[in-house]
Amino acid sequence: MQPVRKAVIPSAGLGTRSLPATKSIPKEMLAIVDRPIVQYAVEEARAAGIELFIFVTSRGKTSLEDHFDRQFELYHTLQHRGKSAQLAEARGSELAAGRYAFVRQPEPMGLGHAVWCARQFIGDEPFAVLLPDEVFLADTPPLKQMLRAHASTGGNLIAVREVPADMTGRYGILDPAFDDGQLVAAKGLVEKPAPEVAPSRLSLIGRYVLQPEVLDELDRQDAGAGGEIQLTDAMARLIGRQPFHGVRVEGERFDCGDRAQLVAANLAFSLRRPELATEVRNAAERILMETALNDAGEPEARVA
Ligand code: G1P
Repeated sequence: MQPVRKAVIPSAGLGTRSLPATKSIPKEMLAIVDRPIVQYAVEEARAAGIELFIFVTSRGKTSLEDHFDRQFELYHTLQHRGKSAQLAEARGSELAAGRYAFVRQPEPMGLGHAVWCARQFIGDEPFAVLLPDEVFLADTPPLKQMLRAHASTGGNLIAVREVPADMTGRYGILDPAFDDGQLVAAKGLVEKPAPEVAPSRLSLIGRYVLQPEVLDELDRQDAGAGGEIQLTDAMARLIGRQPFHGVRVEGERFDCGDRAQLVAANLAFSLRRPELATEVRNAAERILMETALNDAGEPEARVA
């Protein structure tokens, strides 16, 4: 079996759910604690042994390129000031020369189209896709969990998780043929089905290990749900021709395109940082208590 060495990180989205911050800051550059959202995807891919990082971006996203590049002036200043811990942090987000590439998606034509834009860099080998909006707090990063499972399934493998029935319309949904509790053999995939027609509640959560043949399917450039070229539709056409499984991955998940979840991610990740945990916990407890008191004491304000 060919090893999975390359990861595509689609980063071309407009971030409309986080306006006005995303007027001038790419949504992938919004921070969770002190690192941009996209860095979590890169660290996850790195931990899974990925060697080439392919970012699909669009206009206004050059700060992503700067973030993973070497910043001589900053390093020099930090060194000069003896700030070695900060220097190590800044250097830690660098990617090695020749190990990352940026490709543009000229128009927002869908996730499938974004992945297709990376086809020349992917070539003829299996690859991973990580949607950076989806951030996980897990002992073993999800992509690493997936590659372990992939060693036995081969073929195509997508991370899945149950969602409440009324949320199927927000996600790709897997139609299960056989479910052993961790692995789910797929007999179909549907992008954002209404609850009445959803084949299950197993949603796709932004982590994929795919065979290169999916790129041939994307060549068709067929529009699907929402008028966009959907990765889900191209993957669905591989089912029956290649092994295709969902895998339930462990870990707490935050869909950071959603504002409330980005706030929750900040709280959860900062509580895992020893230098921040006590202060954040105290502040959170105080804020929660004051809010509860205010809510209890001011019924008019609650209605308003
Ligand atoms: C995309 C995929 C969808 C998947 C979701 C996960 O949708 O098309 O299948 O479930 O990401 O976050 P989007 O959120 O880009 O609309």
